[in-house]
Amino acid sequence: MLDGLRQKPVNSKRNFLQKLADRENPHARSFLVAFDREDGMIVRRLLLCVLVLTNGCVIRSAIGQAVDPDQAKQIFGVLPKIAENPQNPVTPEKIALGKSLYFERRLSKSSSISCNSCHDLGMAGADGLSTSLGYRWQLGSRNAPSVLNAALEFSSFWDGRAKDVEEQAKGPILNPKEMAATKELVVQRLKSIPAYVDAFHNAFPEEKDPVSFESTAKAIAAFERTLLTPSRFDQFIAGNPSALTEQERQGLNTFVAVGCTTCHNGVGVGGGRFQKFGLIHKPDWLKDLGRYEVTKNPADKYVFKVPSLRNVALTAPYFNDGSVWSLEEAVKTMAFAQLGRTLSDAEAKSIVSFLNTLSADPALVVSTPNLPPSSLSTPKPMP
Ligand code: HEC
Ligand code: HEC
Repeated sequence: MLDGLRQKPVNSKRNFLQKLADRENPHARSFLVAFDREDGMIVRRLLLCVLVLTNGCVIRSAIGQAVDPDQAKQIFGVLPKIAENPQNPVTPEKIALGKSLYFERRLSKSSSISCNSCHDLGMAGADGLSTSLGYRWQLGSRNAPSVLNAALEFSSFWDGRAKDVEEQAKGPILNPKEMAATKELVVQRLKSIPAYVDAFHNAFPEEKDPVSFESTAKAIAAFERTLLTPSRFDQFIAGNPSALTEQERQGLNTFVAVGCTTCHNGVGVGGGRFQKFGLIHKPDWLKDLGRYEVTKNPADKYVFKVPSLRNVALTAPYFNDGSVWSLEEAVKTMAFAQLGRTLSDAEAKSIVSFLNTLSADPALVVSTPNLPPSSLSTPKPMP
């Protein structure tokens, strides 16, 4: 009985190693052998080693040295101007329509909640709440991530249940705890407003019936694909070392040296993979089962998308449940939970000073669009 209980998580770790070994990492094979002999903490530490190795020599060679712009470019990459999607080409007409729809409260049942209610573009694309308020003041169970740079991520939502921002945008409109609308209501409202009918025809000229739920999501996503925020760190990556202060560069070195880049790498400084929250030590408050809710695979319990850290200094509170308000505390929690490491105050402060350089600079300023008026046939708000 006891053996059975112990076997389960161990098997899932073994599967994970097996997957790494099969797919991407030659080192994982030798660890598999070790795995079959050991379990528990040692194995988890081995897993972390595998992860560090998987992410390549770039990260390893940077450990212990000052990270220069070229190395940073290899670890993180260059921020594009627009996060293109060949399946939904970004055009000026789609961006303009998508921007209006992003601010459009009439996409919600009550006509009082828009995307911008929970992803306020005046608040770095988040809402500053632990968990968001939706239809009839219902409280959700997860923290609203920023929409800024969200289109760069390899999948959408904390648990990655949508493959991209196009698929994602449909979720909140229909979610009974969020905007609580139906596809039919959305189409009826939009078709009753002549200026929207014209705007959909211009944005989707190839479609016979362009005012649809599908194109609503596509237009919003096209707008989101433009919401990328260059920062001082991008100037550093572009080859300007003095874009960061000495203290911030030290922070970057610490961020790399302690192993944060094992997971928070790529152009979003995260947003490129799933990982278990609590790889080494599970935080005791963590209840959300994360990706397990999507896959029902026991190995996915407490697995979440590694979030992008762009603008992280502007988007407290932190973590999937918005339970931590201090960035310094979030950094210490991460080091302990993910790397088994207790950071000193100085190390945590140093990392925070680096994270500050990921804030949009210049600040993103989005003007509020003028939305067209309803007609007499527009379905009324249902509060
Ligand atoms: C009632 C609040 C609320 C509204 C309204 C809302 N969202 Fe969200 N949004 C959230 C929450 C909470 C999450 C995280 C949910 C999860 O991961 O399960 C989220 C997740 C997202 C994500 C994923 C970000 C990431 O890093 O994975 C995007 C993109 C997004 N929303 C865009 C939108 C758009 C576009 C709209 C309008 C169509 C919208 N949201 C409306 C609360 C809201
Ligand atoms: C093994 C992978 C991994 C490592 C290593 C890691 N992180 Fe994370 N990080 C994650 C995951 C997964 C989450 C999402 C946790 C959750 O569900 O809230 C996260 C979340 C965060 C958040 C909260 C972001 C937000 O918007 O709520 C911060 C800040 C953060 N990490 C910083 C760091 C720092 C600093 C380090 C190094 C000390 C680090 N992480 C190391 C995987 C990792």
